[in-house]
Amino acid sequence: MQSLGTLEDLPQSYRDKLTELNLVPLWPNMRAVLPHKVPSRKTQTLNWRFDKLRPLLIEAGDLTPIEKAERRVLVLANPGHGLANMQATPSIYMGLQLILPGETAPNHRHTPNAVRIIIEGKGATTIVNGEPCIMERGDLILTPSGKWHQHQHDGGTAIVWLDILDLPLMYQLESSWAIEGKPQTTTLERDKSFAEYSAAGVVPEFDFQRASVDSPMLRYPWTKTRACLLEMAQHYGDRPLRITYVNPETGSSLFPSIGFGAMMLRPGETLPIPKRTTACVFHIVEGQGSLKVDTNDSIHWTEKDTLSAPGYTEITISNASTTEPAFIITADEAPLHRYLGIF
Ligand SMILES: [Fe+2]
Repeated sequence: MQSLGTLEDLPQSYRDKLTELNLVPLWPNMRAVLPHKVPSRKTQTLNWRFDKLRPLLIEAGDLTPIEKAERRVLVLANPGHGLANMQATPSIYMGLQLILPGETAPNHRHTPNAVRIIIEGKGATTIVNGEPCIMERGDLILTPSGKWHQHQHDGGTAIVWLDILDLPLMYQLESSWAIEGKPQTTTLERDKSFAEYSAAGVVPEFDFQRASVDSPMLRYPWTKTRACLLEMAQHYGDRPLRITYVNPETGSSLFPSIGFGAMMLRPGETLPIPKRTTACVFHIVEGQGSLKVDTNDSIHWTEKDTLSAPGYTEITISNASTTEPAFIITADEAPLHRYLGIF
């Protein structure tokens, strides 16, 4: 590959004239933005260990009352992107949120799409456009772009969840904003995972009409996902046990930006993930094991940890237990890559 001229090759007087007219020569920067064959990636492989994080999150509860924080969140920032930019991957933001008993997060809505994965605690509810979504370990609760949502916590212990948003993407698009509103009143008794969307392959037809809302299902109970993976394990002895979360009305990904999935690793299983363009994050619901990216050292993980890995890499994930399965929820940028034709 031929080396290109550098900025320093150009006379200072010429560079000054370019700057004055808001011009930049492409050739000194071209290899950086358009490298040959493999893109440059800032996303680093790392594990945000829950056992190290949790005490700091609980301490935040003592240090900062909810009125002063509005959202009491420690952001899982990938240092490759610069900590202040609050990116786990190019377009995924992740944060661990703490809500103490009796606290509420006021009603609001925003342009970024959000999912929360419940890590610990019971008794919290997120109300989304009038639909009360109970929050249990491993559940995915969706608050899609523009939908009103508020959190309340009537349980007796702290609740912790993982927020996953397409905030960095919305911010880059200069489209990230939020507003607050009056408290919601619930319009349903229970979220739609209990009845309308309780069975795979079946959707409701009230008044003989299919639902026309963008995100008809807002809560994906972990108990059902886990049972599905276990059932698949009974019937497929050696195939990877992987599901993807979809909109039950359309079959499309939950959001246009971020795709969500779940995997089960059999006891002792090592799973090479097909090489893909997208960066990926892994949240460990159950189990312990290791993650290896290309020829780097393996990273150990255990229950409630959250990991990131860049795209264009060989990722291998292993279950360290020879007796118990491991369960992992994933989030990646695959829907966006597919839309752009680069997946
Ligand atoms: Fe929100």
